[in-house]
Amino acid sequence: MDQRFGDYQNEIYLNGLFGTPPELPMSFAGLEQRAEAALPPSLWSYVAGGAGDEHTQRANAEAFHRWGLVPRMMVGAARRDLSVDLFGMRLPSPLFMAPVGVIGLCAQDGHGDLATARAAARTGVPMIASTLTVDPMEQVAAEFGDTPGLFQLYTPTDRDLAESLVRRAEAAGFRGIVVTLDTWVTGWRPRDLATANFPQLRGHCLANYTSDPVFRARLAKAPEEDPQAAVLEWTGIFGNPLTWDDLPWLRSLTQLPIVLKGLCHPEDVRRARDGGVDGVYCSNHGGRQANGGLPALDALPDVVEAADGLPVLFDSGVRTGADVVKALALGATAVGVGRPYAYGLALDGADGIVHVLRSLLAETDLIMAVDGYPTLADLRAEGALRRL
Ligand SMILES: Cc1cc2nc3c(=O)[nH]c(=O)nc-3n(C[C@H](O)[C@H](O)[C@H](O)COP(=O)(O)O)c2cc1C
Repeated sequence: MDQRFGDYQNEIYLNGLFGTPPELPMSFAGLEQRAEAALPPSLWSYVAGGAGDEHTQRANAEAFHRWGLVPRMMVGAARRDLSVDLFGMRLPSPLFMAPVGVIGLCAQDGHGDLATARAAARTGVPMIASTLTVDPMEQVAAEFGDTPGLFQLYTPTDRDLAESLVRRAEAAGFRGIVVTLDTWVTGWRPRDLATANFPQLRGHCLANYTSDPVFRARLAKAPEEDPQAAVLEWTGIFGNPLTWDDLPWLRSLTQLPIVLKGLCHPEDVRRARDGGVDGVYCSNHGGRQANGGLPALDALPDVVEAADGLPVLFDSGVRTGADVVKALALGATAVGVGRPYAYGLALDGADGIVHVLRSLLAETDLIMAVDGYPTLADLRAEGALRRL
């Protein structure tokens, strides 16, 4: 695939020449600052905040600074190939949008899931749609265009409901199911606790439940008539503390690729592999769930080794193209971002997300050009990355 991601900078410089400098921030710090001003304070806290004193969240981003790419010269890397094969999908780049529940609320019009899906369609960067959306998954998937999307499942305690969600994802055309394992209970989040704010308890982002026949059958009255009863029912079934004994059941739910999200220990990766999953997803939920943990990047090399050729998705702390390059060099098959695209959305809807994704891809591409690594295989070769 001949995508010249780095050309985004030419577009920006040329626009500047004609008197139009970029309106959107060119750095993560700038994005963060402007998003804070753009979002209502409680939503800002929910998105930007993490678990405990947020040490793990900060450590996720800082961990990237302990690695450096070794430049290679006279390579002639005039063309770079960032394309990847993932579960039979040919993707133009290894970048993807991690599932962000409440992304729906981050858009000015309150339909951020749809805006994210439209950004996926425009960039070829796949969206993993969360279970927690403002608009039902069918409507989100309808905006994907030619870009494939994955569905992230929070496994409810009601197995029939879990199956119904998966069937709907299949019917809507999602190309894989990402089962998130680290969030059957919410982690301790002081910022949200300080304002006693938990969006779902206020009835937000529950469209996949309230539109589901199995969920609706559990209610005495339709959710449109008695929304509070629906929220109460949701709190009772949301989090399923799964064990490895549940994996055969999960596996039996679908022929679609299954990816387990939240794996950081090599033994867990081996068990997942033995249980027949199609991919593993190394992440600590961007430091939102458990403070005091290892930065996700530090877990990545062992996860890649234990995965033994199985695709490894990675997220947590990725802020720049340099971070993307490093995660790839450490063996990730695909690299996800969470907060960065949520901030882009808050600033300028789908256009804001497209800007964030194009910037990340341009920097990734240009680092590969400057440092002489024309392919992802080159990045992964022995000696490309050094620990500082
Ligand atoms: C506001 C917010 C909501 C999230 N909701 C979900 C979710 O619904 N499902 C899920 O698997 N992960 C969720 N995550 C975690 C992301 O998928 C991802 O692991 C994390 O954001 C990556 O870290 P980063 O934000 O540092 O890029 C959420 C993250 C944020 C910031």
